[in-house]
Amino acid sequence: VASSEAQAEHRLWGGRFSGGLAPEAERLNRSLPVDYRLWPHDLRAARAWARALYRAAFLDATRLARILEGLDVVEQRLTDGAAIGAPDEDVHTLIERLLFDVVGDLAGALNTGRSRNDQVATDLRLWCRDAVAALDREVASLAWALHAKAADGIEVVLPGYTHGQRAQPVRWAYVLLAHAWPLVRDRGRLAAAAHRGEELPLGAGALAGSGVAVDRAWLCGELGFARVAPNALDVTGDRDFATDLVFAAGLIAQHVARLAAELALYASGEFGFIRLADGYATGSSLMPQKRNPDIFELARGKGARIVGDLITLLQLPRGLPAGYHKDLQEDKPALFDAVDQLLLTLPAVRGAVATLEPVPERMRAALDPLMLATDLADGLAARTVPFRDAHRMIGELVRVAATEGVPLTDVPATVAARVHPALPELLASLGSWEASVERRSTVGGSSREAVQRQLAELEQVLDGSGTGTHM
Ligand code: ARG
Repeated sequence: VASSEAQAEHRLWGGRFSGGLAPEAERLNRSLPVDYRLWPHDLRAARAWARALYRAAFLDATRLARILEGLDVVEQRLTDGAAIGAPDEDVHTLIERLLFDVVGDLAGALNTGRSRNDQVATDLRLWCRDAVAALDREVASLAWALHAKAADGIEVVLPGYTHGQRAQPVRWAYVLLAHAWPLVRDRGRLAAAAHRGEELPLGAGALAGSGVAVDRAWLCGELGFARVAPNALDVTGDRDFATDLVFAAGLIAQHVARLAAELALYASGEFGFIRLADGYATGSSLMPQKRNPDIFELARGKGARIVGDLITLLQLPRGLPAGYHKDLQEDKPALFDAVDQLLLTLPAVRGAVATLEPVPERMRAALDPLMLATDLADGLAARTVPFRDAHRMIGELVRVAATEGVPLTDVPATVAARVHPALPELLASLGSWEASVERRSTVGGSSREAVQRQLAELEQVLDGSGTGTHM
Protein backbone atom coordinates (compact mmCIF):
# COMPACT_ATOMS: atom_id res chain seq x y z
CA VAL A 1 0.00 0.00 0.00
CA ALA A 2 2.79 2.36 0.94
CA SER A 3 4.28 1.63 -2.42
CA SER A 4 1.08 2.41 -4.31
CA GLU A 5 0.97 5.71 -2.48
CA ALA A 6 4.54 6.48 -3.45
CA GLN A 7 3.64 5.65 -7.00
CA ALA A 8 0.62 7.87 -6.87
CA GLU A 9 2.90 10.68 -5.74
CA HIS A 10 5.70 9.90 -8.07
CA ARG A 11 5.20 7.63 -11.03
CA LEU A 12 7.36 6.95 -14.05
CA TRP A 13 4.36 5.91 -16.00
CA GLY A 14 0.62 5.89 -15.52
CA GLY A 15 -0.72 8.65 -17.73
CA ARG A 16 -2.91 6.19 -19.49
CA PHE A 17 -4.01 4.35 -16.33
CA SER A 18 -6.87 5.45 -14.16
CA GLY A 19 -5.98 3.47 -11.08
CA GLY A 20 -2.87 2.10 -9.36
CA LEU A 21 -1.56 -1.40 -9.61
CA ALA A 22 -3.39 -4.03 -7.52
CA PRO A 23 -1.38 -4.64 -4.34
CA GLU A 24 -0.56 -8.27 -5.12
CA ALA A 25 0.43 -7.38 -8.70
CA GLU A 26 2.61 -4.67 -7.31
CA ARG A 27 4.32 -7.03 -4.87
CA LEU A 28 5.17 -9.32 -7.77
CA ASN A 29 6.32 -6.47 -9.97
CA ARG A 30 8.63 -4.81 -7.44
CA SER A 31 12.34 -5.44 -7.70
CA LEU A 32 13.74 -2.80 -5.36
CA PRO A 33 14.55 -5.29 -2.57
CA VAL A 34 16.93 -6.97 -5.01
CA ASP A 35 18.08 -4.24 -7.37
CA TYR A 36 18.59 -1.41 -4.85
CA ARG A 37 22.26 -2.35 -4.85
CA LEU A 38 22.59 -1.10 -8.42
CA TRP A 39 22.24 2.46 -7.17
CA PRO A 40 25.91 3.45 -7.50
CA HIS A 41 25.89 2.20 -11.08
CA ASP A 42 22.56 3.83 -11.87
CA LEU A 43 23.90 7.15 -10.58
CA ARG A 44 27.06 6.82 -12.60
CA ALA A 45 25.04 6.18 -15.75
CA ALA A 46 22.65 9.03 -14.84
CA ARG A 47 25.51 11.54 -14.60
CA ALA A 48 26.88 10.43 -17.95
CA TRP A 49 23.39 10.65 -19.47
CA ALA A 50 22.87 14.16 -18.13
CA ARG A 51 26.13 15.26 -19.72
CA ALA A 52 25.21 13.56 -22.98
CA LEU A 53 21.89 15.46 -23.00
CA TYR A 54 23.78 18.68 -22.42
CA ARG A 55 26.18 17.89 -25.24
CA ALA A 56 23.18 17.23 -27.48
CA ALA A 57 21.87 20.70 -26.49
CA PHE A 58 18.88 19.17 -24.74
CA LEU A 59 19.87 20.64 -21.40
CA ASP A 60 21.47 24.04 -20.90
CA ALA A 61 24.44 24.48 -18.57
CA THR A 62 22.30 25.70 -15.65
CA ARG A 63 19.93 22.78 -15.81
CA LEU A 64 22.80 20.33 -16.19
CA ALA A 65 24.49 21.80 -13.11
CA ARG A 66 21.26 21.54 -11.10
CA ILE A 67 20.78 17.91 -12.10
CA LEU A 68 24.38 17.00 -11.27
CA GLU A 69 24.17 18.72 -7.90
CA GLY A 70 20.86 16.97 -7.33
CA LEU A 71 22.45 13.64 -8.11
CA ASP A 72 25.18 14.41 -5.55
CA VAL A 73 22.50 14.96 -2.91
CA VAL A 74 20.78 11.73 -3.99
CA GLU A 75 24.07 9.89 -3.68
CA GLN A 76 24.50 11.17 -0.15
CA ARG A 77 20.95 10.10 0.74
CA LEU A 78 21.54 6.64 -0.67
CA THR A 79 24.86 6.37 1.13
CA ASP A 80 22.94 7.22 4.31
CA GLY A 81 20.57 4.31 3.64
CA ALA A 82 17.68 5.90 1.71
CA ALA A 83 17.19 2.66 -0.24
CA ILE A 84 16.49 0.64 2.90
CA GLY A 85 12.78 0.03 3.22
CA ALA A 86 12.00 2.51 0.41
CA PRO A 87 8.56 1.94 -1.14
CA ASP A 88 9.54 2.36 -4.79
CA GLU A 89 9.14 -0.15 -7.59
CA ASP A 90 12.80 -0.46 -8.48
CA VAL A 91 16.13 1.30 -8.17
CA HIS A 92 15.44 3.53 -11.17
CA THR A 93 12.13 4.74 -9.75
CA LEU A 94 13.74 5.25 -6.37
CA ILE A 95 16.49 7.43 -7.78
CA GLU A 96 14.08 9.47 -9.85
CA ARG A 97 11.90 10.10 -6.80
CA LEU A 98 14.89 11.13 -4.71
CA LEU A 99 16.06 13.45 -7.47
CA PHE A 100 12.56 14.89 -7.77
CA ASP A 101 12.69 15.68 -4.04
CA VAL A 102 15.79 17.80 -4.68
CA VAL A 103 15.32 19.39 -8.11
CA GLY A 104 11.56 19.06 -8.68
CA ASP A 105 10.22 18.63 -12.19
CA LEU A 106 13.69 18.95 -13.67
CA ALA A 107 14.18 15.32 -12.55
CA GLY A 108 11.86 14.31 -15.38
CA ALA A 109 14.15 15.96 -17.94
CA LEU A 110 16.82 13.40 -17.17
CA ASN A 111 14.56 10.73 -18.61
CA THR A 112 14.56 12.33 -22.03
CA GLY A 113 15.48 9.68 -24.57
CA ARG A 114 16.22 7.16 -21.83
CA SER A 115 14.33 4.05 -20.79
CA ARG A 116 14.63 1.76 -17.83
CA ASN A 117 15.43 -0.89 -20.43
CA ASP A 118 18.70 0.69 -21.48
CA GLN A 119 19.29 1.90 -17.92
CA VAL A 120 19.10 -1.52 -16.32
CA ALA A 121 21.11 -3.05 -19.17
CA THR A 122 23.80 -0.44 -18.52
CA ASP A 123 23.74 -0.67 -14.72
CA LEU A 124 24.02 -4.42 -14.78
CA ARG A 125 27.01 -4.37 -17.10
CA LEU A 126 28.72 -1.85 -14.83
CA TRP A 127 27.90 -4.05 -11.83
CA CYS A 128 29.34 -7.11 -13.56
CA ARG A 129 32.54 -5.20 -14.28
CA ASP A 130 33.01 -4.60 -10.55
CA ALA A 131 32.00 -8.17 -9.74
CA VAL A 132 34.60 -9.57 -12.13
CA ALA A 133 37.30 -7.44 -10.53
CA ALA A 134 36.31 -8.60 -7.03
CA LEU A 135 36.07 -12.26 -8.03
CA ASP A 136 39.35 -12.13 -9.88
CA ARG A 137 41.09 -10.76 -6.79
CA GLU A 138 39.69 -13.56 -4.62
CA VAL A 139 40.42 -16.33 -7.11
CA ALA A 140 44.00 -15.07 -7.49
CA SER A 141 44.34 -14.88 -3.75
CA LEU A 142 43.25 -18.51 -3.29
CA ALA A 143 45.69 -19.53 -6.02
CA TRP A 144 48.46 -17.68 -4.18
CA ALA A 145 47.55 -19.46 -0.94
CA LEU A 146 47.85 -22.80 -2.72
CA HIS A 147 51.15 -21.66 -4.20
CA ALA A 148 52.52 -20.76 -0.77
CA LYS A 149 51.39 -24.08 0.76
CA ALA A 150 52.85 -25.93 -2.19
CA ALA A 151 56.20 -24.15 -1.84
CA ASP A 152 56.28 -25.48 1.75
CA GLY A 153 55.27 -28.96 0.69
CA ILE A 154 57.93 -30.00 -1.79
CA GLU A 155 59.62 -32.48 0.55
CA VAL A 156 56.44 -34.20 1.64
CA VAL A 157 55.52 -37.36 -0.28
CA LEU A 158 52.07 -38.94 -0.18
CA PRO A 159 50.02 -41.37 -2.25
CA GLY A 160 48.67 -39.96 -5.48
CA TYR A 161 45.22 -41.33 -6.23
CA THR A 162 43.12 -42.17 -9.24
CA HIS A 163 39.65 -43.70 -8.78
CA GLY A 164 40.18 -43.17 -5.05
CA GLN A 165 42.88 -45.88 -5.17
CA ARG A 166 46.51 -45.43 -4.24
CA ALA A 167 48.33 -45.17 -7.56
CA GLN A 168 51.81 -43.60 -7.49
CA PRO A 169 53.70 -41.52 -4.94
CA VAL A 170 53.65 -37.76 -5.53
CA ARG A 171 54.73 -34.64 -3.70
CA TRP A 172 52.21 -32.75 -1.52
CA ALA A 173 53.16 -29.59 -3.42
CA TYR A 174 52.16 -31.29 -6.62
CA VAL A 175 48.67 -32.12 -5.36
CA LEU A 176 48.10 -28.55 -4.20
CA LEU A 177 49.28 -27.19 -7.52
CA ALA A 178 46.78 -29.42 -9.31
CA HIS A 179 44.10 -27.31 -7.62
CA ALA A 180 45.77 -23.99 -8.46
CA TRP A 181 45.88 -24.36 -12.24
CA PRO A 182 42.09 -24.58 -12.64
CA LEU A 183 41.93 -21.21 -10.89
CA VAL A 184 44.30 -19.78 -13.47
CA ARG A 185 41.89 -20.91 -16.18
CA ASP A 186 39.04 -19.42 -14.18
CA ARG A 187 40.69 -16.03 -14.28
CA GLY A 188 40.78 -16.30 -18.05
CA ARG A 189 37.09 -17.11 -18.10
CA LEU A 190 36.34 -14.13 -15.86
CA ALA A 191 38.27 -11.86 -18.22
CA ALA A 192 36.33 -13.27 -21.17
CA ALA A 193 33.04 -12.66 -19.34
CA ALA A 194 34.08 -9.06 -18.67
CA HIS A 195 34.87 -8.70 -22.33
CA ARG A 196 31.32 -9.76 -23.23
CA GLY A 197 29.95 -6.96 -21.07
CA GLU A 198 31.95 -4.22 -22.75
CA GLU A 199 29.15 -3.11 -25.09
CA LEU A 200 27.39 0.11 -24.21
CA PRO A 201 23.58 -0.14 -23.96
CA LEU A 202 22.85 3.46 -22.87
CA GLY A 203 21.30 5.42 -25.70
CA ALA A 204 19.44 2.34 -26.91
CA GLY A 205 16.22 3.76 -25.52
CA ALA A 206 13.50 1.21 -24.86
CA LEU A 207 14.27 -0.84 -27.96
CA ALA A 208 14.62 1.33 -31.04
CA GLY A 209 17.36 3.82 -30.26
CA SER A 210 17.15 7.15 -28.48
CA GLY A 211 14.96 9.95 -29.79
CA VAL A 212 17.65 12.39 -28.70
CA ALA A 213 20.74 12.54 -30.88
CA VAL A 214 23.18 11.80 -28.06
CA ASP A 215 26.78 11.06 -28.88
CA ARG A 216 26.96 7.39 -27.96
CA ALA A 217 30.65 7.14 -28.76
CA TRP A 218 31.26 9.80 -26.13
CA LEU A 219 29.01 7.99 -23.63
CA CYS A 220 30.91 4.81 -24.34
CA GLY A 221 34.23 6.35 -23.34
CA GLU A 222 32.69 8.21 -20.41
CA LEU A 223 31.36 4.98 -18.91
CA GLY A 224 34.44 2.94 -19.76
CA PHE A 225 32.85 0.61 -22.30
CA ALA A 226 34.87 -0.72 -25.23
CA ARG A 227 32.27 -0.29 -27.97
CA VAL A 228 28.73 0.86 -28.63
CA ALA A 229 26.26 -2.00 -28.98
CA PRO A 230 25.38 -2.19 -32.66
CA ASN A 231 21.68 -2.99 -32.15
CA ALA A 232 19.43 -1.34 -29.59
CA LEU A 233 16.83 -4.10 -29.63
CA ASP A 234 19.50 -6.74 -29.04
CA VAL A 235 21.39 -4.95 -26.30
CA THR A 236 18.31 -4.19 -24.20
CA GLY A 237 17.35 -7.86 -24.16
CA ASP A 238 20.85 -9.33 -23.97
CA ARG A 239 21.96 -10.86 -20.67
CA ASP A 240 24.65 -13.08 -22.17
CA PHE A 241 27.33 -11.18 -20.28
CA ALA A 242 25.66 -12.04 -16.96
CA THR A 243 25.30 -15.68 -17.98
CA ASP A 244 28.95 -15.77 -19.02
CA LEU A 245 29.92 -14.38 -15.65
CA VAL A 246 27.79 -16.89 -13.76
CA PHE A 247 29.18 -19.70 -15.92
CA ALA A 248 32.67 -18.60 -14.90
CA ALA A 249 31.42 -18.41 -11.31
CA GLY A 250 29.86 -21.86 -11.58
CA LEU A 251 33.10 -23.38 -12.74
CA ILE A 252 35.08 -21.56 -10.04
CA ALA A 253 32.61 -22.99 -7.54
CA GLN A 254 33.18 -26.50 -8.90
CA HIS A 255 36.94 -26.09 -8.69
CA VAL A 256 36.73 -24.85 -5.14
CA ALA A 257 34.34 -27.71 -4.35
CA ARG A 258 36.84 -30.27 -5.65
CA LEU A 259 39.63 -28.76 -3.60
CA ALA A 260 37.32 -28.71 -0.59
CA ALA A 261 36.25 -32.32 -1.12
CA GLU A 262 39.84 -33.50 -1.24
CA LEU A 263 40.88 -31.52 1.82
CA ALA A 264 37.82 -32.63 3.82
CA LEU A 265 38.76 -36.23 3.04
CA TYR A 266 42.36 -35.65 4.08
CA ALA A 267 41.20 -34.06 7.33
CA SER A 268 39.30 -37.23 8.29
CA GLY A 269 40.57 -39.55 10.99
CA GLU A 270 41.11 -42.31 8.45
CA PHE A 271 43.43 -40.23 6.29
CA GLY A 272 44.72 -37.72 8.81
CA PHE A 273 46.89 -36.16 6.10
CA ILE A 274 46.14 -32.60 7.22
CA ARG A 275 45.14 -30.79 10.40
CA LEU A 276 42.80 -27.82 10.16
CA ALA A 277 43.55 -24.71 12.20
CA ASP A 278 41.08 -24.01 15.02
CA GLY A 279 39.80 -20.98 13.19
CA TYR A 280 38.63 -23.16 10.32
CA ALA A 281 37.29 -26.25 12.10
CA THR A 282 33.94 -26.48 13.83
CA GLY A 283 32.69 -28.51 16.76
CA SER A 284 29.66 -30.72 17.16
CA SER A 285 26.81 -29.78 19.49
CA LEU A 286 26.66 -33.40 20.67
CA MET A 287 30.05 -35.05 20.26
CA PRO A 288 32.76 -33.22 22.15
CA GLN A 289 35.63 -34.81 20.24
CA LYS A 290 34.53 -33.61 16.78
CA ARG A 291 36.50 -31.25 14.56
CA ASN A 292 34.41 -30.81 11.47
CA PRO A 293 35.58 -29.41 8.14
CA ASP A 294 32.42 -27.27 7.76
CA ILE A 295 34.20 -24.65 5.67
CA PHE A 296 35.08 -27.21 3.03
CA GLU A 297 31.67 -28.83 3.20
CA LEU A 298 29.96 -25.49 2.72
CA ALA A 299 32.27 -24.71 -0.18
CA ARG A 300 31.13 -27.98 -1.74
CA GLY A 301 27.49 -27.14 -1.10
CA LYS A 302 27.80 -23.68 -2.62
CA GLY A 303 28.89 -25.41 -5.81
CA ALA A 304 25.38 -26.83 -6.14
CA ARG A 305 23.73 -23.53 -5.37
CA ILE A 306 25.78 -21.52 -7.86
CA VAL A 307 25.10 -24.01 -10.62
CA GLY A 308 21.42 -23.48 -9.78
CA ASP A 309 21.92 -19.77 -10.42
CA LEU A 310 23.53 -20.59 -13.74
CA ILE A 311 20.57 -22.75 -14.75
CA THR A 312 18.24 -19.83 -13.98
CA LEU A 313 20.19 -17.52 -16.27
CA LEU A 314 20.43 -20.11 -19.02
CA GLN A 315 16.66 -20.62 -18.92
CA LEU A 316 15.65 -16.97 -18.68
CA PRO A 317 15.92 -15.90 -22.33
CA ARG A 318 14.47 -19.20 -23.51
CA GLY A 319 11.78 -18.54 -26.09
CA LEU A 320 11.80 -14.74 -25.63
CA PRO A 321 11.45 -12.61 -28.74
CA ALA A 322 14.21 -10.02 -29.12
CA GLY A 323 14.27 -7.05 -26.78
CA TYR A 324 13.34 -6.47 -23.15
CA HIS A 325 10.72 -8.52 -21.32
CA LYS A 326 9.99 -8.39 -17.62
CA ASP A 327 11.19 -11.99 -17.36
CA LEU A 328 14.64 -10.46 -17.43
CA GLN A 329 14.07 -8.90 -14.02
CA GLU A 330 14.73 -12.41 -12.68
CA ASP A 331 18.34 -12.14 -13.84
CA LYS A 332 19.44 -10.21 -10.79
CA PRO A 333 18.65 -12.62 -7.94
CA ALA A 334 20.62 -15.35 -9.72
CA LEU A 335 23.51 -13.12 -10.78
CA PHE A 336 23.86 -11.46 -7.38
CA ASP A 337 23.55 -14.74 -5.53
CA ALA A 338 26.25 -16.46 -7.56
CA VAL A 339 28.70 -13.62 -7.05
CA ASP A 340 27.81 -13.05 -3.38
CA GLN A 341 28.13 -16.70 -2.50
CA LEU A 342 31.49 -17.01 -4.18
CA LEU A 343 32.76 -13.88 -2.50
CA LEU A 344 31.67 -15.43 0.79
CA THR A 345 33.25 -18.79 0.06
CA LEU A 346 36.59 -17.92 -1.51
CA PRO A 347 38.11 -15.98 1.43
CA ALA A 348 37.10 -18.71 3.91
CA VAL A 349 38.60 -21.46 1.77
CA ARG A 350 41.73 -19.39 1.26
CA GLY A 351 42.05 -18.96 5.04
CA ALA A 352 41.50 -22.66 5.64
CA VAL A 353 44.14 -23.55 3.05
CA ALA A 354 46.63 -21.00 4.34
CA THR A 355 46.38 -22.29 7.92
CA LEU A 356 46.11 -26.05 7.47
CA GLU A 357 49.09 -28.18 8.44
CA PRO A 358 50.14 -31.25 6.51
CA VAL A 359 50.95 -34.34 8.62
CA PRO A 360 53.87 -35.86 6.70
CA GLU A 361 54.08 -38.98 8.92
CA ARG A 362 50.49 -39.90 8.10
CA MET A 363 51.03 -39.28 4.42
CA ARG A 364 54.14 -41.39 4.43
CA ALA A 365 52.42 -44.15 6.41
CA ALA A 366 49.80 -44.40 3.69
CA LEU A 367 52.42 -45.15 1.03
CA ASP A 368 52.17 -48.78 -0.01
CA PRO A 369 55.02 -50.66 -1.75
CA LEU A 370 52.47 -51.74 -4.35
CA MET A 371 52.67 -48.14 -5.59
CA LEU A 372 56.14 -49.00 -6.91
CA ALA A 373 54.73 -51.53 -9.37
CA THR A 374 54.82 -49.01 -12.20
CA ASP A 375 58.50 -48.27 -11.44
CA LEU A 376 59.28 -51.99 -11.78
CA ALA A 377 57.37 -52.26 -15.07
CA ASP A 378 59.19 -49.13 -16.32
CA GLY A 379 62.48 -50.77 -15.22
CA LEU A 380 61.77 -53.90 -17.26
CA ALA A 381 60.70 -51.77 -20.22
CA ALA A 382 64.02 -49.92 -19.98
CA ARG A 383 65.65 -53.37 -20.39
CA THR A 384 63.79 -53.69 -23.69
CA VAL A 385 60.92 -55.83 -22.38
CA PRO A 386 57.86 -54.56 -24.31
CA PHE A 387 55.77 -52.59 -21.81
CA ARG A 388 52.69 -54.82 -22.21
CA ASP A 389 54.78 -57.86 -21.23
CA ALA A 390 56.47 -55.95 -18.44
CA HIS A 391 53.03 -54.93 -17.16
CA ARG A 392 51.90 -58.57 -17.12
CA MET A 393 55.08 -59.75 -15.36
CA ILE A 394 54.78 -57.16 -12.61
CA GLY A 395 51.12 -58.12 -12.30
CA GLU A 396 52.36 -61.66 -11.65
CA LEU A 397 54.85 -60.39 -9.11
CA VAL A 398 52.03 -58.51 -7.33
CA ARG A 399 50.03 -61.74 -7.21
CA VAL A 400 53.03 -63.69 -5.85
CA ALA A 401 53.55 -61.05 -3.14
CA ALA A 402 49.91 -61.36 -2.16
CA THR A 403 50.00 -65.17 -1.92
CA GLU A 404 53.30 -65.09 0.00
CA GLY A 405 51.83 -62.40 2.23
CA VAL A 406 54.83 -60.05 1.82
CA PRO A 407 55.11 -56.44 0.60
CA LEU A 408 55.89 -56.21 -3.13
CA THR A 409 59.38 -54.98 -2.38
CA ASP A 410 60.13 -58.01 -0.14
CA VAL A 411 59.43 -60.77 -2.62
CA PRO A 412 62.45 -63.10 -2.28
CA ALA A 413 65.00 -62.74 -5.09
CA THR A 414 64.73 -66.39 -6.14
CA VAL A 415 60.92 -66.09 -6.49
CA ALA A 416 61.19 -62.76 -8.36
CA ALA A 417 63.83 -64.17 -10.73
CA ARG A 418 61.34 -66.79 -11.85
CA VAL A 419 59.06 -64.02 -13.12
CA HIS A 420 61.94 -62.24 -14.90
CA PRO A 421 65.70 -62.62 -14.30
CA ALA A 422 66.21 -58.83 -14.05
CA LEU A 423 63.68 -58.41 -11.26
CA PRO A 424 65.91 -59.13 -8.21
CA GLU A 425 68.26 -56.36 -9.29
CA LEU A 426 65.39 -54.00 -10.09
CA LEU A 427 63.81 -54.66 -6.72
CA ALA A 428 67.10 -53.97 -4.98
CA SER A 429 67.58 -50.69 -6.82
CA LEU A 430 64.10 -49.21 -6.25
CA GLY A 431 65.42 -46.89 -3.55
CA SER A 432 63.36 -44.49 -1.49
CA TRP A 433 59.93 -42.99 -2.13
CA GLU A 434 61.71 -39.82 -3.16
CA ALA A 435 63.69 -41.80 -5.71
CA SER A 436 60.42 -43.04 -7.17
CA VAL A 437 58.98 -39.54 -7.37
CA GLU A 438 62.19 -38.29 -8.97
CA ARG A 439 61.81 -40.83 -11.75
CA ARG A 440 58.83 -38.78 -13.02
CA SER A 441 60.76 -35.72 -14.09
CA THR A 442 59.08 -34.82 -17.36
CA VAL A 443 57.54 -31.35 -17.58
CA GLY A 444 54.37 -31.38 -15.48
CA GLY A 445 55.61 -34.36 -13.45
CA SER A 446 56.07 -34.58 -9.73
CA SER A 447 59.88 -34.67 -9.46
CA ARG A 448 61.46 -31.91 -7.40
CA GLU A 449 62.68 -29.98 -10.41
CA ALA A 450 59.40 -30.33 -12.29
CA VAL A 451 57.48 -29.09 -9.26
CA GLN A 452 59.85 -26.18 -8.79
CA ARG A 453 59.40 -25.26 -12.42
CA GLN A 454 55.62 -25.37 -11.95
CA LEU A 455 55.84 -23.14 -8.89
CA ALA A 456 57.85 -20.58 -10.84
CA GLU A 457 55.49 -20.76 -13.78
CA LEU A 458 52.42 -20.33 -11.58
CA GLU A 459 54.05 -17.36 -9.88
CA GLN A 460 54.65 -15.71 -13.23
CA VAL A 461 51.12 -16.32 -14.42
CA LEU A 462 49.60 -15.07 -11.17
CA ASP A 463 51.59 -11.86 -11.04
CA GLY A 464 50.76 -11.20 -14.67
CA SER A 465 54.26 -11.59 -16.12
CA GLY A 466 53.44 -14.96 -17.68
CA THR A 467 52.72 -15.51 -21.33
CA GLY A 468 48.97 -15.68 -20.81
CA THR A 469 48.72 -18.92 -22.76
CA HIS A 470 47.27 -20.64 -19.69
CA MET A 471 44.18 -18.50 -19.74
N1 ARG B 1 13.33 -3.52 -12.71
C1 ARG B 1 13.45 -3.77 -14.13
C2 ARG B 1 14.41 -4.94 -14.35
O1 ARG B 1 15.17 -5.18 -13.48
C3 ARG B 1 13.97 -2.56 -14.81
C4 ARG B 1 13.57 -2.45 -16.22
C5 ARG B 1 12.13 -2.20 -16.31
N2 ARG B 1 11.72 -1.98 -17.63
C6 ARG B 1 10.44 -1.97 -17.97
N3 ARG B 1 10.14 -1.76 -19.20
N4 ARG B 1 9.52 -2.14 -17.07
O2 ARG B 1 14.37 -5.60 -15.35
